[in-house]
Amino acid sequence: MSSEKSHSKGIRIAVDGYSSTGKSTLARELAQALSYRYIDTGAMYRAVTYWALKQGLFKEGHLDEAKLIAELALISLDFSEAKANQAPHILVNGQDVEREIRGAEVAGKVSLVARVSAVRKYLVAQQKEIAAKGKVVMDGRDIASVVIPDAELKIFMTADPEIRAQRRFEELEGKGQSQPMKEVRENLAARDLLDTTRADSPLIQVEDALVLDNTKISREAQLAKALEWAKERGA
Ligand code: DC
Repeated sequence: MSSEKSHSKGIRIAVDGYSSTGKSTLARELAQALSYRYIDTGAMYRAVTYWALKQGLFKEGHLDEAKLIAELALISLDFSEAKANQAPHILVNGQDVEREIRGAEVAGKVSLVARVSAVRKYLVAQQKEIAAKGKVVMDGRDIASVVIPDAELKIFMTADPEIRAQRRFEELEGKGQSQPMKEVRENLAARDLLDTTRADSPLIQVEDALVLDNTKISREAQLAKALEWAKERGA
């Protein structure tokens, strides 16, 4: 019976939104609460960026797109097993690069990589394959619009830009990579612009997405809301 089948497969949950809206935290906690797989697609774009940096594909800030495209097949991505209270780590050709991909160098270059259509095609194919197995929470920018357009639950996360900047500022401080608040604000605004105006798969809020604005609500309340939506849809 189809209802039994969909129950055993669980549901697919897409979480999209601007950067520093707490997407990854919500997606990870939601996956944990449901015993689903959590896939951070931003980590995949970051990992390709890290690899390109290591290969010297950025010269004076300029990305050698042709070379990256020609060598994409050499990049094999995996996620480690999830451990209690810890998101899975991303592996590039077997090497754990979770810490490296979170640094300022990768953050400053990843938009240049994420706008290359061949890179998106390469990663989206892998993401679709993972999603097809079901019981998954995937976060990114194009999950509901491109990767899982028929996801049972689509969440669009947003928050007041000032709150996002404050969170980002604290996150960087916590990592010992403090930046002046003005720079953090400018950085976020630049990323929003790049994410939403990119020619290939820009960040959009799809029509059937449920909006989670977390400007004023706690982490616990967000999770409770998302869990309620997931249960209503058969999780
Ligand atoms: O979510 P994040 O900050 O880790 O994302 C890193 C970059 O990758 C950001 O510039 C947006 C881009 N990205 C994307 O284009 N599509 C996705 N599905 C996920 C991230």
